[in-house]
Amino acid sequence: MNAIETNSLTKIYSSSFGKKKITALNDFTISIPPGTIFGLLGPNGAGKTTLIKLLLGITFPNAGNSKILGKEVSDYKIKSRIGYLPENHKYPPYLSGKQVLEFFGKLSGMQGFELNRRIDEMLDLVKLEKWKKIKVKAYSKGMMQRLGLAQAMINNPDVLFLDEPTDGVDPIGRKEIRDILMNLKEMGKTIFLNSHLLSEVELVTDRVGILNKGKLIREGKVSELTERKQEYRIRVEGKLPQTITENLLAGQSITVLSDGAYSLKLNDLNELNSFIDQLRNNHIIITEVLPLKNTLEEMFISLIYESDKESVQ
Ligand SMILES: Nc1ncnc2c1ncn2[C@@H]1O[C@H](COP(=O)(O)OP(=O)(O)OP(=O)(O)O)[C@@H](O)[C@H]1O
Ligand SMILES: [Mg+2]
Repeated sequence: MNAIETNSLTKIYSSSFGKKKITALNDFTISIPPGTIFGLLGPNGAGKTTLIKLLLGITFPNAGNSKILGKEVSDYKIKSRIGYLPENHKYPPYLSGKQVLEFFGKLSGMQGFELNRRIDEMLDLVKLEKWKKIKVKAYSKGMMQRLGLAQAMINNPDVLFLDEPTDGVDPIGRKEIRDILMNLKEMGKTIFLNSHLLSEVELVTDRVGILNKGKLIREGKVSELTERKQEYRIRVEGKLPQTITENLLAGQSITVLSDGAYSLKLNDLNELNSFIDQLRNNHIIITEVLPLKNTLEEMFISLIYESDKESVQ
């Protein structure tokens, strides 16, 4: 059973005058197994928040359906197994961290000793124990996001939706949030996160989806999406002699990288191995052979660019 599943989900908003329609999500299908950290990436207005709202049953689709832990999202019982950190969340500034969690815990039906124990557990998880009694108006952005995570986790959900959990947070705060997410994954939670911060997502997610103008244009493991086809970095002691670069590499694409290593485009692994044989036969010492990868950001920009070009045509 998948933790999250959508089937041809489509959401069309009408503008206030009812004339212009916006297709915020278009035939969106995805399956996310339990225990996965899934990152949904997309430019502003791509439809990321709309998807979360549909999955939470806050808004309704024009077509298609979705399931959480095998149950239709309209089944209200499933809500007790879901946690949600909204985009740009704000808590009343005069409440302390503990009071915020008390409020949300009570909404989830907790009270008394159980609620107090859970609040302490959550504050410990997000490292805010010492700030328990301090009003949230004194919290930094990073602390507010961590409190938001504690709030999303208060009912011990199995599936967590986090909309831009590291927005506006500095690098140290982001690392702290990443550590919490890894911790939650180890507990077996499924985490669905929306983010613009690609380097962030690269570090923490198992799989990513790329959304543009409501369409899922790519989905897969980060390592698969960032793989460059048969391109290798080769480093040797000294330089490759001209005889090799001229003769042996005739017809092959080789470039010298800025740090003196060579980048080589080949058709397959056999070609790579015969090239290495040629170097070895020429007594050249190889110090590194590395498959080259794109960063997630490079891949994201080129995919969005291609998809925008196609949609204009
Ligand atoms: N309630 C609404 N009524 C009308 N249009 C809406 C509504 N909510 C969202 N939209 C439109 O739907 C599209 C998708 O919006 P959405 O907020 O889902 O994007 P997003 O990917 O979350 O963007 P961001 O990265 O800026 O948070 C946008 O064009 C937006 O203007
Ligand atoms: Mg959004």
